[in-house]
Amino acid sequence: MALAINDLNVPQRLLLGPGPSAVHPRVLRTMSTALVGYLDPEWLSLMDEEQALLRAVFQTKNTMTFPMSGTGSAGMETAFCNFVEPGDTVVIGCNGYFSERMCEMAKLYGANVKRIEKPWGGVFTPAEIETALAENKPVKILALIHAETSTGALQPLEGMAEVVHRHGALFLIDCVTSLSGVPLNIDGWGIDVAFSASQKCLGCPPGLSPFTVGDQAREALYRRKNRVPNWYLDLTMIEKYWNKERVYHHTPSTTLHYGFREGLRLVLEEGLEDRWFRHQAIAEYLWDKMATLGLKLFVPRENRLPSLSTICVPDGVDDAAVRTRLREAYNIDIAGGFGPLKGKIWRVGLMGFSSRRENVTLLSEALREILHGKI
Ligand SMILES: Cc1ncc(COP(=O)(O)O)c(C=O)c1O
Repeated sequence: MALAINDLNVPQRLLLGPGPSAVHPRVLRTMSTALVGYLDPEWLSLMDEEQALLRAVFQTKNTMTFPMSGTGSAGMETAFCNFVEPGDTVVIGCNGYFSERMCEMAKLYGANVKRIEKPWGGVFTPAEIETALAENKPVKILALIHAETSTGALQPLEGMAEVVHRHGALFLIDCVTSLSGVPLNIDGWGIDVAFSASQKCLGCPPGLSPFTVGDQAREALYRRKNRVPNWYLDLTMIEKYWNKERVYHHTPSTTLHYGFREGLRLVLEEGLEDRWFRHQAIAEYLWDKMATLGLKLFVPRENRLPSLSTICVPDGVDDAAVRTRLREAYNIDIAGGFGPLKGKIWRVGLMGFSSRRENVTLLSEALREILHGKI
């Protein structure tokens, strides 16, 4: 008997959660382009273009710069499986959910993980990093989350690398929720290893993790005593496909790369600084709107992330019921908190193509109606 499965009929949700964000129509259109093989000359040119675009977006000259296959977590795992050797000390700033994931991965690859802690929503100062590095000598890697999507806090990074490098460590960052939405300068800020994700401020579908490695880190990779203990994410092999050698490693997702190239083109057409400014301005519009509704923001203004805002759920309001109503009656998708923030915050993402004034107006009006109607 034939299976009676209907045509796919997904509603047009307004994606204002922590990602995926709305995909730009030009990216979607480009993704319907016919496929070519992974060693086709047309494809090889596309790879070079993608790398040039990505270097510009990361603001780096690093040769080892390309999108890894997989989501942001694949980027995170790439960072730890390639740069951690068993017994290495890795200091991780723990102030939210994604730093916990970093700790788990670093441990899986044999790191001696030293946690430095802040309450969820807090950020670290260079002096705190300095103390942690001095107390745990020698440190191989200092890892921080630039934009903590679980809390809405933006970790300042300028000036950190000087401290990290003075202690002989590599500076590794997660810029999943910041790349192209928040100022970030890989070379200018001395970052050695960074990974991001395609589905946040870059406005592409999930599935690629932009990755970049500086010279010091690359040298450390090639000095490893043992092979990278992960075949799929081994940068020494993947590099040979992205550089002039063009040695096959695994079949890339042609369609995702088409879309990603277009997404990067859009970022540079807009201009990095204008894009950062847009993300900041639209977030501030949201913050003002929330204030008029009497809603408080979870993170103090000086550490607030523009791409992901966290709004305190007022006393007596059912967090999940509001989100359900937003989805069912307004087609708007936002997220709740998790871990210690479960039930306490709403997470609103204004990233990439979702970062538009009309989206904020709509969300604020919907929230006003729901809260005044008491759901
Ligand atoms: C800061 C941060 N790091 C890592 C990840 C993991 O990325 P993914 O869900 O794309 O694997 C996320 C996902 O939201 C994130 O926000």
